[in-house]
Amino acid sequence: SWTPDSFVDTTVDQLKKKLGDDKVILGLSGGVDSSVAAMLLHKAIGENLHCIFVNNGLLRKNEFTDVLKQYEGMGLNVKGVDASKRFLDALAGKSDPEEKRKTIGRVFIEVFDDEAHQVENAKWLAQGTIYPDVIESVSATGGPSATIKSHHNVGGLPDFMKLQVVEPLRMLFKDEVRRVGASMDMNPALLGRHPFPGPGLAIRILGDITAEKVRILQEVDAIFINGLRDWGLYDQVWQAGAMLLPVDSVGVMGDERTYEKCVALRAVESTDGMTADWVNLPYNFLQKVSNDIINKVKGVNRVVYDISSKPPATIEWE
Ligand code: XMP
Repeated sequence: SWTPDSFVDTTVDQLKKKLGDDKVILGLSGGVDSSVAAMLLHKAIGENLHCIFVNNGLLRKNEFTDVLKQYEGMGLNVKGVDASKRFLDALAGKSDPEEKRKTIGRVFIEVFDDEAHQVENAKWLAQGTIYPDVIESVSATGGPSATIKSHHNVGGLPDFMKLQVVEPLRMLFKDEVRRVGASMDMNPALLGRHPFPGPGLAIRILGDITAEKVRILQEVDAIFINGLRDWGLYDQVWQAGAMLLPVDSVGVMGDERTYEKCVALRAVESTDGMTADWVNLPYNFLQKVSNDIINKVKGVNRVVYDISSKPPATIEWE
């Protein structure tokens, strides 16, 4: 019968035979799938696995440095590439959701291709594709592989996509991936992370994106997500985040009227992201988080909670 331990043993053996002394490139996203795939490959081929972790400037607060440190702590041969400016420059003035997604996909491919060229004689591209991705073709959980797949029809094929593909998690469901990670002693906090979309905060900032809007949303999101952790609610939620709305509304502060941003908090229960229900978070939690956001994040004077289920409301607002 299937056990995580036996899966690790047989997969590592198979990867050793298949890959020999070849060099392999893998794009880490910070998510569960790419991280577990990396760990399996690391066990099999060690330093011949070249991981690339791209900061698109649209990650959560401190995510790039924190996750990069975690990867280094796991012994992975990982290169962190801060391409924030390149992404934000390319996004400037763009407000159409699909155009934003396409821009991020295109820049990701350019950045990743540049980095892949730095690894001489690479023979393989590893991906954290899991079984639901195989049957759906577009990943609901995001990550570089999903971004690449949905954009590979734009222009010619970049060189890294001409490499042979190795996908050690192809036959696994998400819960099995988590169990495989646990059997390799990976950090439970990493394995239990909520899904996060490849385009990141870009699809949670409605309309055009600026560095200042990203900064505001990172602060709001951090208060919300850390609050969920502190209150022991994080694991009861499938995915959570904050949306920065393109409306200003009136508020008061002391004797002054303010005219500032509104944010929407969203937390959903789901199994695969295809359908979702909003989570009945405790009122006193929402009260605390709302107060913290409004008191601590300059430029925000109103917080609302999204009580829409999917369908028809999608999880992301764009
Ligand atoms: P929606 O908003 O469609 O989201 O209900 C369902 C799940 O998919 C994620 N999502 C994305 N992931 N690229 C991704 O990698 C995207 O463009 C994208 N759009 C949505 C979303 O976070 C949720 O988990």
